[in-house]
Amino acid sequence: MTRIGFIGVGHLAEELIAGWLRSGVPAERMILSPRGHGRDLAERHGITLAADNDAVVAGADIVVLATRPTDAVAAVAGLGWRAGQLLVSACAGVPLDALRSAVAPAAPVRIMPLTAASIGASPTTVYPDLPALRPLLVRLGPVIPLAGEAQFEVATVSAAIYGWAQMLIGLGRDWSVAQGLSEQAARQLAATTFVAAGRMVAERPEPVEELLASLVTPGGITERGLSVLSEDGVPQGWERACDAVLAKLTAGSGRAPG
Ligand SMILES: NC(=O)c1ccc[n+]([C@@H]2O[C@H](COP(=O)([O-])OP(=O)(O)OC[C@H]3O[C@@H](n4cnc5c(N)ncnc54)[C@H](OP(=O)(O)O)[C@@H]3O)[C@@H](O)[C@H]2O)c1
Repeated sequence: MTRIGFIGVGHLAEELIAGWLRSGVPAERMILSPRGHGRDLAERHGITLAADNDAVVAGADIVVLATRPTDAVAAVAGLGWRAGQLLVSACAGVPLDALRSAVAPAAPVRIMPLTAASIGASPTTVYPDLPALRPLLVRLGPVIPLAGEAQFEVATVSAAIYGWAQMLIGLGRDWSVAQGLSEQAARQLAATTFVAAGRMVAERPEPVEELLASLVTPGGITERGLSVLSEDGVPQGWERACDAVLAKLTAGSGRAPG
């Protein structure tokens, strides 16, 4: 039975643990580092609390790393890593090379899940895509394997876009409430409109442009709003924000932003 350890038990790890528990992974298969939310989650869910990071590595086959990026390498270096173990890093912008020497002879893998893992709805990118990890990742939502680390970094920008989408949902809710909708109706409407847009693109085969064109009736409301957004430079601002995130992710990795 595969045992999953956690080093860096903060906000993200809590959502991953919730997702795995929800999907039926037994609490007995997990072991937590004692820092951060570790003690609280161990008590709440009946998960083993390790004495230190060494004990996490000793007790697990797959170790999820979710410290802040700046703490990542130091958190896993010098522990008793074994051949055949996997270190699964969710730390944004921390390259495999930096982890490889710290966890040898274990093998590092990168994933980028979203907090929606807690409800089984995280699109989770992975590189490299290892068969041993797949059964665990699919429990958190759709798995998106990437063909190389530079592509993985580009895909990581989506983890920031996830937050921007929530900001847009909040703006939509605020505007509707200011116009007289109830908070509950405005929130539900704003959120499920984004879900509907995403599901149409994810689940229908037509090109995105075709799906959008079918919404943009000449002289209609969608066209009117799009022209205001375009006049205000929203598409260019969006691209600049994506470029800025990618530059931050790749700074210091030696890889040029693609
Ligand atoms: N939050 C998200 O939605 C999200 C999504 C995708 C990826 N990520 C990635 O996930 C990572 C964690 O993000 P977060 O938001 O969960 O951060 P966080 O809430 O600050 O959690 C980080 C945890 O790491 C612990 N930690 C630091 N050094 C440690 C060490 N040497 N040994 C054991 N634990 C240690 C901290 O414990 P102390 O409190 O004791 O310092 C803290 O509990 C980041 O690298 C981020 O890029 C986050």
